[in-house]
Amino acid sequence: MSKIKEILIGTNNKGKYREICNLLPNELKKYSPKEFNIPTPKETGKSFEENSFIKASYFSKKTSLICLSDDSGLEIDLLKSEPGIYSSRWSGEKNNFDLAIKKIFEKMSNIKKDWTNDNTARFICCMTLLWPDGKNYSSKGVIRGKISIAKKGKNGFGYDPIFIPDGYSQTFGEMESKLKMSIDHRFKAFLKIKKFFI
Ligand code: IMP
Repeated sequence: MSKIKEILIGTNNKGKYREICNLLPNELKKYSPKEFNIPTPKETGKSFEENSFIKASYFSKKTSLICLSDDSGLEIDLLKSEPGIYSSRWSGEKNNFDLAIKKIFEKMSNIKKDWTNDNTARFICCMTLLWPDGKNYSSKGVIRGKISIAKKGKNGFGYDPIFIPDGYSQTFGEMESKLKMSIDHRFKAFLKIKKFFI
């Protein structure tokens, strides 16, 4: 099997793009959909796996490049796994995560006034690596943790300020990004895909 030397990273999300680049070897030539002015396709799938596949095949078709896509999100047990595949959409068109996080706190409080002992959650990431001939390979990574009672930290992106991974006391937003990226859902999904790269 010949190793991949150049790749399109199938996401228009800056935070994800940065984290995926950091997981990949330095020598690998990386392209972003922004360089080709390609918007994100509609995520019409019913699971992280389906949406990740939709993105990889769309971006690869548009560029004839091998594509690595990521579909990810936060599942909160008290909210019956919401926001889940709608994690991005909860932030609205302007990607306002203050709003999305407020919505999470409100929904949790409506279900249970004191939810501090009922705060288990997990981040999920499904990655798809897809070649222009249609060959593809998928992998999934999960990190379990808890929802913090308040937003903490300025690092990372999205829901990082409210997620405390099991075994740690800091939120992803408070952690050094190097530490987050060595334990999180994206890292775990990537471990299974690493073998395809130089
Ligand atoms: P999508 O995969 O583009 O549909 O977006 C996933 C959404 O889940 C992102 O916009 C983030 O809000 C959230 N998300 C996924 N991974 C992370 C993470 O590592 N930290 C914080 N939020 C994340």
